[in-house]
Amino acid sequence: MPIVQVRELVKDYHMGDVTVNVLRGLNLGFDEGDFVALMGPSGSGKSTLMNILGCLDRPTSGQYYLRGQDVSRMSDDALSEVRCTYLGFIFQAYNLLPQYTVVENIELPLVYQGITLDATTTARCVALAEMVGLGERLDHRPLQLSGGQQQRVAIARSLVNDPQLVLADEPTGNLDSRTSDEIMMMLSNLNKTGKTIIMVTHENDIAAWARRVVRLRDGRVESDERNDTKTILTPAG
Ligand SMILES: Nc1ncnc2c1ncn2[C@@H]1O[C@H](COP(=O)(O)OP(=O)(O)OP(=O)(O)O)[C@@H](O)[C@H]1O
Ligand SMILES: [Mg+2]
Repeated sequence: MPIVQVRELVKDYHMGDVTVNVLRGLNLGFDEGDFVALMGPSGSGKSTLMNILGCLDRPTSGQYYLRGQDVSRMSDDALSEVRCTYLGFIFQAYNLLPQYTVVENIELPLVYQGITLDATTTARCVALAEMVGLGERLDHRPLQLSGGQQQRVAIARSLVNDPQLVLADEPTGNLDSRTSDEIMMMLSNLNKTGKTIIMVTHENDIAAWARRVVRLRDGRVESDERNDTKTILTPAG
């Protein structure tokens, strides 16, 4: 069973008398453990799709099954429960809170869920900070970190609930190519531990890290290709 399945997914925005048809009937399934790059021109609906997959927005019509459950019909409360339990988010602009330290930023999703912070949650957040290579920066605030370091905090934060599915909208969009590779190495390693990752990118060399590349155009799937079979077919010596 795919972890994510969308059927005839449609998203329209209404602006006065004008209707913008952003997603025009998408049919896509993503398997558990896959690493998908979502590409396509600016305005093709990538972020719109990510917001729906992340249960931050609802489709106009069509179905979205997450782990076999039709989330398009759930109440707002049930959706926020789904977000906390199964989903992790990474954004292009990191979205850290400037007044909080590295560890406090990683703790934030727990705070939003009303979980009481204690020695166990702190230890977990410190361990995540160490995992992303920020063990020496636990008390730094975002402005005292480089862009790549800030994105690593965001990755650690996305993992605090041990989500099955990580959604990343242009996670390297603000980073230079070397730092981007470090972040992609980290996401790739996460994927190898079993996390399903769906990532938006504009860059082919970033998409090359994924196992599958889906391109959107005009609200539809334009192409859908696997990278990993290409790797296997690479001729030896
Ligand atoms: N809240 C909104 N109200 C009206 N139109 C919107 C809204 N959000 C997005 N759109 C429109 O939907 C279309 C798709 O936007 P979306 O942000 O999904 O594109 P994208 O593929 O992520 O582009 P980019 O690569 O530039 O990030 C755009 O034409 C945009 O103007
Ligand atoms: Mg976008």
